[in-house]
Amino acid sequence: MKNILITGGAGFIGGHVVRLMVQKYPNYHIFNLDKLTYAGNLGNIADISTFSNYTFLHGDICDPNYIERLFKSFSFDSVIHLAAESHVDRSIADPLAFVKTNILGTVNLLNAFKSLWQDQWENKLFYHISTDEVYGSLGATGLFTEKTAYDPNSPYSASKASSDHLVRAYGETYGLPYVISNCSNNYGPNQFPEKLIPLCINNIQNNMALPIYGDGKYTRDWLYVVDHAEAIDRVFHHGKKGSTYNIGGHNEWQNIDLVKLICRTMDDKLGRKKGDSEQLIQFVTDRPGHDKRYAIDANKIERELDWKPSLTFEEGIERTINWYMNNGPWLNNVTSGAYLEYYKHQYQNS
Ligand code: NAD
Ligand code: DAU
Repeated sequence: MKNILITGGAGFIGGHVVRLMVQKYPNYHIFNLDKLTYAGNLGNIADISTFSNYTFLHGDICDPNYIERLFKSFSFDSVIHLAAESHVDRSIADPLAFVKTNILGTVNLLNAFKSLWQDQWENKLFYHISTDEVYGSLGATGLFTEKTAYDPNSPYSASKASSDHLVRAYGETYGLPYVISNCSNNYGPNQFPEKLIPLCINNIQNNMALPIYGDGKYTRDWLYVVDHAEAIDRVFHHGKKGSTYNIGGHNEWQNIDLVKLICRTMDDKLGRKKGDSEQLIQFVTDRPGHDKRYAIDANKIERELDWKPSLTFEEGIERTINWYMNNGPWLNNVTSGAYLEYYKHQYQNS
């Protein structure tokens, strides 16, 4: 039995990774460490909560003493680190929260892992989950490869870039075995509706404005979250230690086209007249420092680890919209209370 620590497993991507690992690997004991911030929700993983190879740990990666004790108690063989502050707009409003969780929190985990194993690194791995945003912004052409220089533009991406550098530095300096993956935009069930796709689905259902930043021509490369979880499984088991893998869907969309696609699909499902939901689109003040375009060259992971996305975007977006429409209580739960305050503040000029 191996003890695997997954951080941030009550969040969007973490929940899908925890489910996959718990179900697929009965010989692993999966410990899910999560602070349950506004973005963490145990309802995301209620279906696996009673599995005998699963334990939830409620705690904060920013507390070094707690983290040190935890690593000593459970002797984690490996770490898959997803816990983070993850929303760019919130990082613009409060950069320090991102520095604390994404940089200091990561260093606390690295220190605890290092002091637990010292130089006995055989069969140990620290897997750091990162983002394509560390590479900055692309022009109209080109793709991010693993060799693209880091050039982050938001406090969020700068904090993730910093944590990537620290993981690499612990590898070089202390020999800590690590792997990093940098993924493009995820979408799918359980994503908190501060992010574009679930925000639009929720607003269309409630006949609320769809806020599009700037001219709407910003481009993102979307990947279904379960495909990302499967890529993480591949990298965790077969990735080359000390290296980086880019993960993406070869699936670029300008925001405005994506939102119109969601509108058309939902008009059908809600029995609305064609074009009704598009009327809700509202162009609003742009995000400061808004990155123009992200697009991933996923050749390395496809070639070396034989991974490819399993779903087309049409299938993924259909599943995603159906999931939100069939999970009203989940959506109502996360859009009440603090979300209303956040929403009012973020979109007050819309
Ligand atoms: P999320 O915001 O949905 O979830 C983050 C989770 O981390 C939550 O459960 C939260 O409670 C937990 N957490 C936050 N601070 C913590 C702390 N101090 N201690 C313990 N737990 C804490 O995020 P997500 O979208 O699932 O992203 C997960 C990871 O993947 C992040 O590292 C993010 O940078 C990266 N990533 C996200 C995307 C994306 O499109 N969402 C793409 C590429 C990479
Ligand atoms: O690329 C990976 C990153 O993708 C992850 O590292 C981040 O954690 C994740 O949040 C995501 O970042 P983005 O900023 O790209 O995602 P978001 O859903 O916030 O925005 C997607 C695009 O939509 C972006 O160009 C901004 C735009 N947008 C977003 C919101 C919330 C709008 O036009 N209006 C909105 O209200």
